[in-house]
Amino acid sequence: MTWWREAVGYHVYLRGYRDSDGDGIGDLPGLLSRLDHPRDLGVDAVWISPFYPSPQADSGYDITDHRAVDPLFGSLSDVDAIVQAARRMGLRLIADVVPNHTSAEHPWFRAALRGGPERARYHFRAEPNGWESMFGGPAWTRAPDGQWYLHLFTPQQPDLNWTNTDVADDFDATLRFWLDRGFAGVRIDVAGGLAKDPDYAEVGEQPVHPHWDRPETAAIHRRWRDLLDSYGDRVAIGELWGTPDRIAERVGPGRLHQVFQFDWAVAPWESLRDTAAQAIEELGKAGALPTWVLGSHDLMRVATRYGPRRAKAKALVMFALPGAAWIYQGDELGMENVEVDNGDPGGRDGVRAPMPWHATGTNSTLLMYRKAIALRKRFIVGRPFEWLPERPGVLEFRRGDVACVLNTGQRPVTFPGRPLHHSGPLDGGLLPPDTAVWAELVTPRY
Ligand code: NOJ
Repeated sequence: MTWWREAVGYHVYLRGYRDSDGDGIGDLPGLLSRLDHPRDLGVDAVWISPFYPSPQADSGYDITDHRAVDPLFGSLSDVDAIVQAARRMGLRLIADVVPNHTSAEHPWFRAALRGGPERARYHFRAEPNGWESMFGGPAWTRAPDGQWYLHLFTPQQPDLNWTNTDVADDFDATLRFWLDRGFAGVRIDVAGGLAKDPDYAEVGEQPVHPHWDRPETAAIHRRWRDLLDSYGDRVAIGELWGTPDRIAERVGPGRLHQVFQFDWAVAPWESLRDTAAQAIEELGKAGALPTWVLGSHDLMRVATRYGPRRAKAKALVMFALPGAAWIYQGDELGMENVEVDNGDPGGRDGVRAPMPWHATGTNSTLLMYRKAIALRKRFIVGRPFEWLPERPGVLEFRRGDVACVLNTGQRPVTFPGRPLHHSGPLDGGLLPPDTAVWAELVTPRY
């Protein structure tokens, strides 16, 4: 029932994955033609970023129909073909669902703009408050009739009102639609932002934030969880930014299965150990394991953030930590941010560049990832976790008979056991700075 607990996932940002028709934008037939890539990497699941009808004001996170496919990406039969191919390859598919907002072009919002009861599905007010959009500027835009509507992202993404029953019912229908088509689960966009303060209090006015991670969120998550549980072993992975103690409150039975650990993705090099330790401890209290991420289509490339050597070392550590691990497409090739601006409202085009398929043949980062994922299945998954005694500048722990040691310091350090895998060259029997090693601990047999 818990295939996902220590699964390795691969995050496909469809627009940049594989273009099959030469329009410069990745699409579903392109993904189908290169589904062998995540399969060969050895991952368990593939999450596909939104492919639904959309004016593409936010790369598909502005949706006009949550239960259809945009011709830009292909058709519903392309999705079905991917589901079938994935099943043959032993890969599980995760759909990206977006409950917080629709596109401003969604029929619901068009009707809302015309006035009438449909307006109650969104947040309309006579006067805006001081809330800000995630992309900067006010979170309110004036409708033609003078009222203001809320959008925590672009003005083309009006926020849905989750106290409205149409909204919750329609989202159930969306979940069922993709689960019925064979998806093994969903990645839930803005999973912590759905509940809004009923009085639209200003940020800082109340102890509880007016629109992030409010207590009312729990009931919404429970509803989804009940629906997912009725399907068996399907999974809900929340995109929810928070400290590990808050994340721990959102995972577990009756809650989300997993929440991405973004603090691990953005942690300073020197605090990787503390960041990992906190997540393991806090989620452990909830009986859960963390869901590690190295990068995403919203963050700077891991190889740009830390430099290539450290990025490889961090990946190797991630694959040994207890919990699930997610790879953002291209990080397994050592891709770096590129200087490009295609007009993304969040300035994130640099991390969304197309996959360099020509470079996959001899890529050393790719080989390092593949071997790690294969060894992880043999030696890591399900093995007991234990921190090893702390040494300055070293992050080290064991999983069963394997020690994982990361040198975050300036000088080579020792490591126990016999090396199984490493992120870069070793220095004789020593582990150089910015390098990680997995080593088999020789257990005495009597
Ligand atoms: C999170 C998504 O990952 C991001 O790309 C998007 O802009 C926002 N949610 C809004 O949907």
